Amino acid sequence: MRFSVRITDPSTLSTPCLVLAVYEDGSLPASTARVDETARQTIAKVLKAGDLRGAIGDTLLLQSVAGVRAQRLLLVGAGKPKDLDAKKFATLLRHACSALQKHQLARCATALADLEVKDSDAARKAALLARVFVHQQYRYHATKPKAVKLLQVEEVTLLLRETRERAPANRGLDIGAATGRAMNVARDLGNLPGNVCTPTYLGKQAQRLAKRNARVLKTQVLSEAQMRRLGMHSLLSVGNGSAQDSALIIMQYRGAPASQPPHVILGKGITFDTGGISLKPGAAMDEMKFDMCGAASVLGTMSALCELKPAINVIGVIASAENMPGGSATKPGDVVTSMSGQTIEILNTDAEGRLVLCDALTYIERFKPQSVVDIATLTGACITALGSVVSGLMANDDDLADTLYQCGLQSLDPVWRLPLWDEYQEQLKSNFADIANIGGPKAGTITAGCFLARFARKFKWAHLDIAGTAWLQGSDKGATGRPVPLLLEYLLNH
Ligand code: BES
Ligand code: MN
Ligand code: ZN
Repeated sequence: MRFSVRITDPSTLSTPCLVLAVYEDGSLPASTARVDETARQTIAKVLKAGDLRGAIGDTLLLQSVAGVRAQRLLLVGAGKPKDLDAKKFATLLRHACSALQKHQLARCATALADLEVKDSDAARKAALLARVFVHQQYRYHATKPKAVKLLQVEEVTLLLRETRERAPANRGLDIGAATGRAMNVARDLGNLPGNVCTPTYLGKQAQRLAKRNARVLKTQVLSEAQMRRLGMHSLLSVGNGSAQDSALIIMQYRGAPASQPPHVILGKGITFDTGGISLKPGAAMDEMKFDMCGAASVLGTMSALCELKPAINVIGVIASAENMPGGSATKPGDVVTSMSGQTIEILNTDAEGRLVLCDALTYIERFKPQSVVDIATLTGACITALGSVVSGLMANDDDLADTLYQCGLQSLDPVWRLPLWDEYQEQLKSNFADIANIGGPKAGTITAGCFLARFARKFKWAHLDIAGTAWLQGSDKGATGRPVPLLLEYLLNH
């Protein structure tokens, strides 16, 4: 999809479709009013007649309106002028994009970025428009190639009034389109079935990304033998029952001098989670192919960095394994020694995410990171606590937590903090090892965070539990691409 900016009067523009907003109270945003003047109040009449209410997301297509050069006008409801915030603006954009697809309109010009949106400048509005349009057009085809292909909107021209908005809007479009594409990368990986998307497959994708971006990205994939030599027996224990090799994938993005310490993003990459010997119940077990959505968000984010080339250093790490029962699988009660030297009693083999992440956390100490954010579909308890609206946030540093919270609001990819207080650490006591891998039925999301915290003492660290936000269930079943927007917001702010 191509996006561009034009500073021009929308009424004189020739385009197959001009997309304009209208308000619910019958008033018109400035650029719509301008067009309506030359259109002899056709739009006002349409609203007055009640043909379009103007609530967020209502759409109406008009053909050959006298007085305007555009072949069609697509009117989109923007609700009440005073209520329009970024969240509502995103909903409106989604509906506008769907209407274009439905009416087979591959090219359009739009004055939507000219709307007054709370706390949003031209750059923010342009970014959101591009992100929503790119995200909206995603379809899964990898293992369903004959699925009906929806029309793709190919060209969107953003109409603005002020020349000084051109540069920020262009920058916004680049960031937004890259964010949308990165979300779609994450969704494609998340949606792939477990028999295709294995740890080895994830490693290959990371290597492919580096090959295509050799000047800024280097990928390294550690084999099981290499991890054994490093003492990563916790990570390796998870793949013991699987025919698939585990992998630790390291992608180094270099946008700044090597002297600048990197930010690390670390994703849980369990390509299928049966629960292992602590086998999960059968219902909806297929959804455990999504247990690598943290890893997918890391790959998506790294691909956007390669596109946008910000002047920072970022290391994307993926700890990947398949959690299966089997003759050589880890058993409840087994004790393993992690790379950190701490021993772990594995009381439940279904609490495997923390077992792969803890060794990866120890591994990344060598990079002396500025900050570390891990992303994991870690606990069902997080879905109980927060549902599918916000991701769980835990951190050992208040500033990092506050920053991520703000970035979540800004990027419409919100997170909510839970406490990692010492009292909760009590629940992880073991009679047979330094630490148990489960903390009992209470506060399951927090005790999982507390487990990780024991391996994150050497840097500023935050943990995102995306169990409720990484994919949708039901008829819309599929990966969401979250929290790619949050991660990019965070990294690009540096
Ligand atoms: N991948 C799951 C968490 C999960 C479950 C995410 C359902 C999304 C939907 C994780 O590996 C897991 O199984 N966690 C256990 C931990 C428990 C054994 C302490 C859980 O949440 O039940
Ligand atoms: Mn599990
Ligand atoms: Zn899992």
